[in-house]
Amino acid sequence: MQPNLKHLFLLDPNIHYMNHGSFGACPRPVFEDFQNWQLELEKNPIDYFTRQVRGLFTRDTGGPLEEAREALARFVNADSEGLIFSPNVTVALNAIAFATQLEPGDEVLTTNHEYGTIQATWERKCKSSGALLRVVPLALPVTTQADLVELFWEQVNPRTKVILLSHITSATALILPVEDICHRARQAGIITIIDGAHGVGQLNLDIEALQADFYTSNCHKWLLTPKGTAFLHVHPSQRESFEPMVVSWAEINQPSFSLRHEMWGTRDMAAFLSIPKALAFREQYNWPARNAEARSLVIESRIKFADILGSELLCDESWLPQMASVLLPEKTNPLELWNHLWDDYSIEAMITRWQDKPIIRLGFNAYNTPDEMDLLLEATSRYLQQNALI
Ligand SMILES: Cc1ncc(COP(=O)(O)O)c(C=O)c1O
Repeated sequence: MQPNLKHLFLLDPNIHYMNHGSFGACPRPVFEDFQNWQLELEKNPIDYFTRQVRGLFTRDTGGPLEEAREALARFVNADSEGLIFSPNVTVALNAIAFATQLEPGDEVLTTNHEYGTIQATWERKCKSSGALLRVVPLALPVTTQADLVELFWEQVNPRTKVILLSHITSATALILPVEDICHRARQAGIITIIDGAHGVGQLNLDIEALQADFYTSNCHKWLLTPKGTAFLHVHPSQRESFEPMVVSWAEINQPSFSLRHEMWGTRDMAAFLSIPKALAFREQYNWPARNAEARSLVIESRIKFADILGSELLCDESWLPQMASVLLPEKTNPLELWNHLWDDYSIEAMITRWQDKPIIRLGFNAYNTPDEMDLLLEATSRYLQQNALI
């Protein structure tokens, strides 16, 4: 077992931070790099925006922002020209909804495991265009990835225009077999949109191989960058018709595809500029090994939880990233349990509902220890016992 790395993070040493998945956590050196970029900006905002970071009013697209884009593109095996920096996945998915043309009768196919606000975005989009959002129920426990692909694909019909899927589902923490579905959809001429909010830094992303039309991911979760750092990759076949949601100087100057989509007037890009530092930090501390160790702790933990709760495992290990969810007893009040963990134990944990069922999502990182995992288990079971729920 490798030494614990909590001291490298800015996390309060007095709390047990056991929910990396919601907002991530940023290591000190990466955060310092981010702040240095902000200080540079304030020394001479004109020089910073027009000459240093990129030539905003020229066609010069060189500079540190392009270096950050290149570094991230290499990391996810994507072409950098199609990679747009976005503040978060919510904005990226709204930008796609804005630009997608739907006609009355078209269908958008999705699942009942999608993130609430993303589903709401596409509900609104469908309503305003007369299209239908069709939600395919994926029952738990899931069986095999091949079964899921077949079950999902059975719902595709000639009206299916768009497929919208999470790469890793939010509440249920399952890696969905998006690659197979994207390949089939490309052959069938259906647009694929992958919500990879939890993807980058947790999965070995290969965007070239995935062949999604749109892939978006939050760097501020598992890549360890400061908040407000996401990307949207657009497949070459979609670039010509993909209209920017925000009109800016880029509309007039027509720089590169990515700049056309991310120039939003005055905008602090410091968080994006710290991406190379986050990648270097991960390399320095051999992050793939850290991920693997935290994932083992998650897997060990979900078995202990399921045993104590008498709850069935939701999937086999092949579905799991560095997170895993376990259903809680039906009558559990998620908010009350969440408050109990925080008020009595200083534990930050992810307790929510999926389809009205209370659920706990375990999502650890290199700053968590087996002792903390035991404390979470003890605190949860004590609450459930006190409330006669187990
Ligand atoms: C699957 C999924 N999609 C989208 C989001 C939204 O991310 P953000 O709030 O950074 O836009 C989340 C957030 O946790 C998520 O889990």
